[in-house]
This record gives sequence, structure tokens and C-alpha cells, in this order.
Amino acid sequence: MNKENKTEEAAKGAVLLAPSILSADFTRLGEQLAQAEQAGADRIHVDVMDGHFVPNISFGAPIIQSLRQVTHLPLETHLMISDPDFFLDEFVEAGSDSFLVHWEGNNNLHRLRKRVGVVINPATPAVVLEEILLDVDSVLVMTVNPGFGHQPFLREILPKIRRVRQMIEQTNPGCELELDGGIDAATAPLGVAAGANVLVAGSAIFHDEAGVAAAMKRLQAATKLPVN
Ligand code: DX5
Ligand code: ZN
Repeated sequence: MNKENKTEEAAKGAVLLAPSILSADFTRLGEQLAQAEQAGADRIHVDVMDGHFVPNISFGAPIIQSLRQVTHLPLETHLMISDPDFFLDEFVEAGSDSFLVHWEGNNNLHRLRKRVGVVINPATPAVVLEEILLDVDSVLVMTVNPGFGHQPFLREILPKIRRVRQMIEQTNPGCELELDGGIDAATAPLGVAAGANVLVAGSAIFHDEAGVAAAMKRLQAATKLPVN
């Protein structure tokens, strides 16, 4: 295999990591973000929750504005809020590069600009993606019920992830397949084997006693592990 082919192969197989700041230490957010960036984070995942769409409240556009000042990494905003349309401009102005919007309860998916991904909850079947797959840049399959960090990965979602990968290959091969929830060094290889190429991880990166850099390294290595 020549050098170009090798590079191509590596690019095809590369799994991207998106640290979720929901689990970060907010008193040291800038520092932790820098550590994740230095350790090779590909983008930063920002979980916005309104206490209505999900039973938890997190943060809004001001945090994105602050993050924008300290990182050049793409900021992806996961909107777990009712009526996401209403807030989009605010998040765009704050510096969001892309949006992840839930299929559940959202009937205006085609109105979104910027890079956009559609999110489906664990109980939502893959078939709902059929009519929108061509119009999105990514599909995010929730591997926990949304609302909280540090929940266990739902292994029963794996067959759905495989189905979504097949649909993507048939309809929109450039589309990313992202997983969110319970991703750690043990579950990352399962998700990747099922077809995911972007992994969100919160507690596995920010709650690791060995520190952010070591946690990132462990996760990066895990994405390359074979699954029996
Ligand atoms: C949960 C959020 C996740 C969360 C993941 O609703 O969407 O992004 O931060 O946290 P971990 O990786 O700890 O499961
Ligand atoms: Zn998320």
C-alpha cells in the first residue's frame, strides 16, 4: 500500500472524540478544555438542557461565548431544550459551529442552518431517519436517556447503531454517526465496531483520577481495539 492509500485508510478509520464539558470541573473549565485540546480532542460537545425537554438544567449560550474565547476547536451544541428553533440565533452568535437537535418533539428540522445533526433517543427507532438522512451532516444515537452524565451505556442499542450505519452507507455515506452516553474505554470499542465514527464522552474524560490527558489517551487507544 503506498503512502497516500495509507493516509486515506487512516482517515477513513479515524474515530473522532468529542469531550462533553457537562462533566468538567466548572471552576477550572478553561484549563480542562486546554488539556482536552492538547490531548487531541477533535471538537467540544456542549450539552444545553432546559429542565423541560429533559429533567435537568445545565447552561446556555453564555458558556459557548466563553468557550469561544479560549479554543479554536469546533463547538457542537447538543440542544436538549423545548423549541430549539427559538434559541438558534443566540447560539450561532455565541459561536456554535454545529447543532445536534433531537428528532423527538421537533418538527422543523429542515429550518436549521450551520452544520446539523439529528439526535435520536434510545427508544426511538432508526426508521424515523429515513426521510431526513440526506439533509443532515450527522446522526447522533443516544446510548443513554438524555439529561445526565455518568449513566451506564445501553448495550441493547448496538443493533440500532448497526442499522443506522447501514442506512448511512446506502443514503448519505459522508454523514457522521455519533454516540453519546456511557462511552468509556470498555464501551468505545463496541460502539466503533457497530459503526460509530464520533464518540462523545464526559465522565470518562473529566472524572478520571489520572487526569484529562491520560483519560483521552486511554479512550483514543480503546477506539482502535478489536471486538471479539
Ligand atoms: C447526556 C449528555 C451527554 C453527557 C454524557 O444527556 O447528552 O453528552 O455529557 O456523559 P457521559 O459520557 O458521562 O455519559
Ligand atoms: Zn450530549
